Amino acid sequence: MADWQKLEKKYMMDTFKRLPVTIVKGHGVRAWDEEGNEYLDFIGGLAVNVLGHSHPVVVKAVANQAREIIQTSNLVYSVPQVKLAKLMIEHSCMDKVFFCNSGAEACEGAVKLARRYGMIHRKGAWEVITATKSFHGRTLAMTAATGQSKFQEPYEPLPEGFVNVAYDNVDAIKKAITDKTCAVMMEPIQGEGGVNVPSDDYLKEVRSWCDKKGILLILDEIQTGMGRTGTLFAYEQYGVEPDIMTLAKGLGGGVAIGAFMAKEKVSVFEHGEHGSTFGGNPLACAAGYATLNYVLKNGVVENCKCVGAYLAKSIDGLKKESTLVTGVRGRGLLLAMELSREIAADFVLECMKEGLLLNAVTPSAVRFMPPLITTEEDVDEAMVIVKKVLARVGKK
Ligand SMILES: Cc1ncc(COP(=O)(O)O)c(C=O)c1O
Repeated sequence: MADWQKLEKKYMMDTFKRLPVTIVKGHGVRAWDEEGNEYLDFIGGLAVNVLGHSHPVVVKAVANQAREIIQTSNLVYSVPQVKLAKLMIEHSCMDKVFFCNSGAEACEGAVKLARRYGMIHRKGAWEVITATKSFHGRTLAMTAATGQSKFQEPYEPLPEGFVNVAYDNVDAIKKAITDKTCAVMMEPIQGEGGVNVPSDDYLKEVRSWCDKKGILLILDEIQTGMGRTGTLFAYEQYGVEPDIMTLAKGLGGGVAIGAFMAKEKVSVFEHGEHGSTFGGNPLACAAGYATLNYVLKNGVVENCKCVGAYLAKSIDGLKKESTLVTGVRGRGLLLAMELSREIAADFVLECMKEGLLLNAVTPSAVRFMPPLITTEEDVDEAMVIVKKVLARVGKK
């Protein structure tokens, strides 16, 4: 058998700190490595696989679409694109959508749209306020938007036009707003920053301050969207509506796709002002349509809410069993187990050896983001491994 991990080192840029496992197959919540070992996959493709690995409806949609047509250009109309757009608009507070290929591209497009809006409606305002510990992607501009110095320092000087302020602090936003500000961009719950949930009123206060100043609110729902937090979009739980929203990850049920959506009044792009070769390609849109349609018709979001609550309770219950666990944060099936020591990476490695895939989102927090079709039985199975590993790691 080829040593894929060795070959990866030889041929690929060493950008990812990977778990020492080569996954070759997946169905639902389960994945298998090349030796046939089975894993309960609670990384879920990093919040991508809302329906689990290779869900039959996604497989069928992709296969059927591939037989018809895989790619057209955006110089012609395309049915899968329009079908997905219609479904997304009908089930969100948004009026228009633009399709792209990733989360970073979606956020980048959202910022471009906000700048166009600022140019037209706010006397050329172009700055965007974002939060510390946020994550909006890896393009150069989104690195500037992402309020984490570890991602920014290697690439300085960064593009101008982003002001990073403290998260969950309305005053910090109020102070940062100037005549140059066109938008505030943030995640309803910060994912990559450590699963940070803001105070209940935070988004409402940010929304009303934006309204007062005539500034746009961009919500990055790339990680929180598509049902992940127990409602189709997280904004629904906070009683606010954004002017622009970005999506990617779960939108294609495993196939790469991104999108930004906007209210009618904000949809100011004219012909040629934005574009993409692959954005909205038939294959990705067919996968997206099949995924969202299934999510809406099969109680997937409701399942996420129930099983998420069950998982949160199970994690919280571990506090009684181990002093290593200090709490749980997050909503739905976007949860982080808080640890008393910086052992998340070691913990995750030990879980992998026992057949459970998890993510060390910070040195002292382990992220759980399984598919939204995960059952309570899957959670129980995961907890058996978590408890076993806690007992072992606790002794070290
Ligand atoms: C909230 C958020 N925005 C943007 C991105 C970037 O998405 P992508 O990796 O698809 O570019 C991510 C990725 O983790 C994310 O969590």
